[in-house]
Amino acid sequence: MEFKNLSLTQDGRVGIIAINRPKALNALNTKVLLELDAVLDELEKNPEVYVIVLTGEGKAFVAGADIEEMKDMTPDEARKFAELGSRVFKKLEIINKPVIAAVNGYALGGGCELAMACDIIIAGEQAKFGQPETGLGITPGFGGTQRLPRIVGTKRAKEIIFTGEIIGAEEAYRIGLVNKVVPPNTSFQAAIEMAKKIASKGQIAVRNAKAAINRGIETDIDGGVAIENQLFALCFANTDQKEGMTAFIEKRKADFKN
Ligand code: CAA
Repeated sequence: MEFKNLSLTQDGRVGIIAINRPKALNALNTKVLLELDAVLDELEKNPEVYVIVLTGEGKAFVAGADIEEMKDMTPDEARKFAELGSRVFKKLEIINKPVIAAVNGYALGGGCELAMACDIIIAGEQAKFGQPETGLGITPGFGGTQRLPRIVGTKRAKEIIFTGEIIGAEEAYRIGLVNKVVPPNTSFQAAIEMAKKIASKGQIAVRNAKAAINRGIETDIDGGVAIENQLFALCFANTDQKEGMTAFIEKRKADFKN
């Protein structure tokens, strides 16, 4: 498929999605969300891509859902828009390969929600995060009230959402919203480096670990451990496990095929 509002490129085993509407600070309108939906389907099926990096062109990661498009929506249209965004973000969250968000600038509203749906967030020092929706007279609509408290705890999430305060990368790191803060304009490079490191591991193991964490976190500890036990056992049904362990015993680097 040809994309107009984002680009899809590849660096080795890393698929790179760059949202490309810099004039509107990459704001998410219906067209962008539908392209994101399609590009995720494409990447999910592509066996050559092991890890995905998601970023935004220009000075913003994503400055939110498109206010221009939302301004005159009826409640029914708003619900459909929120359901579309939420469905696409869920697809991103559970896609069968890790996704790293490289955030160099604004990740606000739907942009913060998009980053939170990724597995890992790497932020440049000048990155800014927040859920400013209450200032627009709305609540977050692409999962912010659900993912933010799960990531940073309810007290901090409520403060951020109620006040609409914008926080810097260091504060986002301090509260556990981002994994790593890197010098300005290096978040993309840092994300690629991390993606390549992940791509060098056994991919079935990486995917099973992602599934175990995502599914386990939504259940109790015993249910989560049962999911882990099952996925651990499944690792022994493919050649990566034999290769990884044989390489260790033979004191050489593993050469994974999956
Ligand atoms: N939707 C539509 N257009 C947007 C946008 C958005 N979320 N954010 C920025 N833009 C547009 C601006 O309207 C502007 O367009 P024009 O040049 O045509 O005027 C262009 O992008 C550049 O923006 P600014 O001139 O405002 O740039 P700035 O550097 O002065 O400010 C900013 C940057 C602080 C991020 C500011 O643009 C801003 O506050 N944007 C809105 C942030 C926001 O409220 N996001 C939440 C949206 S609601 C949401 O996301 C709901 C949900 O959960 C589903």
